Amino acid sequence: MPAPRAQFHDLLDRSVLVTGGGSGIGAALVEGFARQGARVAFVDIDEQASRELAERVADETGRAPLFIAADLRDTEAGRRAAETAAAALGALHVLVNNAARDDREPMDTVTEASWDESQAVNLRHFFFMSQAAAPHMRRAGGGAIINFSSIAYLLNMAEIPAYATAKAGIIGLTKSLAGKLGPDNIRVNAILPGMIVTERQKRLWLSDDAIAGMQERQCLKRSLTADDLVGPCLYLASDCSLGMTAQTMIIDGGAL
Ligand SMILES: NC(=O)c1ccc[n+]([C@@H]2O[C@H](COP(=O)([O-])OP(=O)(O)OC[C@H]3O[C@@H](n4cnc5c(N)ncnc54)[C@H](O)[C@@H]3O)[C@@H](O)[C@H]2O)c1
Repeated sequence: MPAPRAQFHDLLDRSVLVTGGGSGIGAALVEGFARQGARVAFVDIDEQASRELAERVADETGRAPLFIAADLRDTEAGRRAAETAAAALGALHVLVNNAARDDREPMDTVTEASWDESQAVNLRHFFFMSQAAAPHMRRAGGGAIINFSSIAYLLNMAEIPAYATAKAGIIGLTKSLAGKLGPDNIRVNAILPGMIVTERQKRLWLSDDAIAGMQERQCLKRSLTADDLVGPCLYLASDCSLGMTAQTMIIDGGAL
């Protein structure tokens, strides 16, 4: 399925920061915002994939996204990345909290350290990146924060207690931040993807049987790809959704 071709004219020259933009869904979002003519920066830990992406998107769209290398488990590094992005882009209107790592670890083998690691990579930086971005959005007169959760926490999946907890926590965080930031015209919404067949998912977790099983379950009988998340995210970032905050949007082909 090709990426959406709709144009959101208000996104032209908007300043957008995407976390985990170096690969997977984040990479599709970086490209999608660049195609709208937005000024895009992205943070990622994977330098090689990110540099290749930045080059490709610059070649294909004429808009060179700014790659900022940082490990978002390090809160200070994340904060610095947000400041670098705001300074380089001249403002910050949109923050997409997307970076995550969906490690499988069943109940019996979770340790205190692995639990904390999961919350650090899947939840904590969603808050601190929002905290860093909010003053810039206030200065701009408003903004949009889009948090990537997952339908995984609704599926009683046994092998991901820490990841599911983080993804559920993102919904609570979304609603609390929406309450706090609404008076400043900053909207906060969450996207819950279903099974999105990326190269990494296929390499690590998704067998052909699992993909077929999900297609059977979905109303739409095809696999969803990263491009399926671009349109919903552009919509939540754009003025088309100006009245919408504290909401969750499920993009799962009708699996739930
Ligand atoms: N793919 C799916 O099926 C699916 C389903 C539901 C929800 N999601 C959610 O969508 C978002 C994107 O998923 P994806 O499949 O593209 O993930 P992915 O693992 O393919 O990509 C995540 C990106 O985040 C980066 N990253 C990881 N740890 C980092 C760190 N400590 N600091 C900085 N960057 C870091 C990675 O390098 C990578 O580029 C995630 O929040 C994920 O939980 C994905």
